[in-house]
Amino acid sequence: MDFSKLSGYYGLIVKGAEYTILVSMVSLIIGFILGLLICLMKMSKVKILKLISSAYVQILRGTPLFVQIYIIYYGFPQLGFDFPDVGPISSKFIAGAFALSINSSAYVAEILRSGIQSVDKGQMEASRSLGLGYKDTMRFIIVPQAIKNVLPALANEFITLVKESAVLSVIGTQELMFKAGIVVTAIYSPMEPYLVAAATYLAITSVLSKLVGILEKKLAQSN
Ligand code: ARG
Repeated sequence: MDFSKLSGYYGLIVKGAEYTILVSMVSLIIGFILGLLICLMKMSKVKILKLISSAYVQILRGTPLFVQIYIIYYGFPQLGFDFPDVGPISSKFIAGAFALSINSSAYVAEILRSGIQSVDKGQMEASRSLGLGYKDTMRFIIVPQAIKNVLPALANEFITLVKESAVLSVIGTQELMFKAGIVVTAIYSPMEPYLVAAATYLAITSVLSKLVGILEKKLAQSN
């Protein structure tokens, strides 16, 4: 192994890492919004909404992300749904972020549901019996506790997305793994670029899980 072969390519790796973080962040945000919607549908009393949202979660969690990406990137255009380039943002990035967001939303929906349901029923009863209305109870008592329950899990979902986004390289999203592949072809040597990619993922996830640990401690203190 000879890591000196990599000199001149670190800029590419850094760019890839930036894309990895960017696509993961975008997917977490869109996944959160969609996931919240799915969660509310799942908890609603309307049967059809419950059914649709349950099927959505089941399908997305029960099939590989890899397959979902292929269906979205290669399959959707066949149905007339093309991913456009938007200014400097390539269609491959948009398709990748779309696939990752959809996938994440199913996991986020379950995180949110368990977070809300983990707030003790007695909290609602106590608050209502003290004279607070339903809306205010939700706003000041239930939701703050639910957020506390889900924040660490959402942060962990972000870590998962950083790792899973490597799969997007198969459709050419310019993230870390894709860039590592470019370096491999450039220097005719696979081990060094892929090891550097692994170390970069590890660095990102280590920092993030440290932050999750700090967050968990902070939230535990504010009880
Ligand atoms: N690798 C697994 C899959 O392909 C996990 C996906 C996890 N996704 C998530 N957003 N937590 O299905």
